[in-house]
Amino acid sequence: MTIFDQLESEVQCYARSFPVTFDKAQGEHLYGKDGKKYLDFLAGAGTLNYGHNHPVLKQALVDYIMADGITHGLDMHTKAKAEFLETFNEYILKPRDLDYTFQFTGPTGTNAVEAALKLARKVTGRNTIVSFTNGFHGVTLGSVAATGNSHHRGGAGVALGDVSRMPFCGYHGRDIDSLKMMDTLLSDPSSGVDLPAAMIVECVQGEGGLNVANADWLRGLEKLCRKHDILLIIDDIQAGCGRTGTFFSFEPSGIKPDIVTMSKSLSGYGLPFAIVLLRPDLDVWEPGEHNGTFRGNNHAFVTATAAIREFWKDETFANSVIEKAAIVADRFKKISDRYGVTRVKPKGRGMMQGISMADGDTADAVAKACFERGLVIETCGNRGQIVKCFCPLTIEKDELIRGLDIMAEAVAEVVEKAFERKAS
Ligand SMILES: Cc1ncc(COP(=O)(O)O)c(C=O)c1O
Repeated sequence: MTIFDQLESEVQCYARSFPVTFDKAQGEHLYGKDGKKYLDFLAGAGTLNYGHNHPVLKQALVDYIMADGITHGLDMHTKAKAEFLETFNEYILKPRDLDYTFQFTGPTGTNAVEAALKLARKVTGRNTIVSFTNGFHGVTLGSVAATGNSHHRGGAGVALGDVSRMPFCGYHGRDIDSLKMMDTLLSDPSSGVDLPAAMIVECVQGEGGLNVANADWLRGLEKLCRKHDILLIIDDIQAGCGRTGTFFSFEPSGIKPDIVTMSKSLSGYGLPFAIVLLRPDLDVWEPGEHNGTFRGNNHAFVTATAAIREFWKDETFANSVIEKAAIVADRFKKISDRYGVTRVKPKGRGMMQGISMADGDTADAVAKACFERGLVIETCGNRGQIVKCFCPLTIEKDELIRGLDIMAEAVAEVVEKAFERKAS
């Protein structure tokens, strides 16, 4: 019996899929304590877009620590925080013609979502939030109310209210215009749908199954929000920081959300860090009204600043993500062509892609077969049916191809075994 079996709660989950004690990591590789090397297509659930222990980020952090830089500073002013604000504003917001106020929340994604929902309710004086089918926004009470997944909702133990669910882009198939349906519901004073404070949406649903909101739908959603005076919150916690090929996942659509939530890869180093970006005129908070001890992770400010300067000073990194995304899309199409879309269907956008299998058990079997070949990869989707390729964006091309080869082998093993079972 390991120390984890003896002492750790049943709630832990990733170690069930990857029953190894990891010790070290570098770039796109993890190393077990026995020295075995694994290729990482999980990337800390999207926290490691720039890979493990990136040397530039590591050096910035080591220098800061060695100079006795402040580690914890509540939400007081620090030099590291000033540098983060200046850098994010200069390199990210200004070139994209975006003007936002920064709210530093507790360091998890769900805390940023809580803050965004609270603020929208406070600004508008309305209770309801619209969230979308298969959306995932975290597991604290406000966020889990906006989350679709029944497993997570079931853990709440209380009624989850003040959220209206609407169909995400394409949820009812191509022929049903969900924007028109929402407009009808919101325009009819007797539809029973209360005017919401905000709509919260992911441009690519990460946990919910790599469902893509297309640019037209996002523009239509923005228009709908403007028409009905509803705030638009983009939850960019998973799809942001370059994962889809641009810093913000909403960039290709040209929309300007009222509020944006960010976390995961924001620190660039796997350090906990979350922010809410809000339209300056929405900043109606009283001092300390949304509170928390850990609202100033200075180590995360240092690595986030270094990451932005390293990767977002020009188009080189973004272009490399687009190039790698094309390699993934091409490979997934080939796998799908081989077995047919009913067995293997490509999903997603940018470096947020996966293959949808027949069901959750098949996807689990593929992920397991990958792990047996040294590839760490997880599943997602409303029924856990999608094998999700979520490697660091900095991955070397040959390692990306090696990982995709492993995925193809694993699919072949699982699908062909299923054929054999059927035939016998
Ligand atoms: C889109 C999105 N929002 C919110 C969250 C919650 O973030 P955290 O797990 O850090 O609370 C996640 C986590 O996966 C997410 O993908």
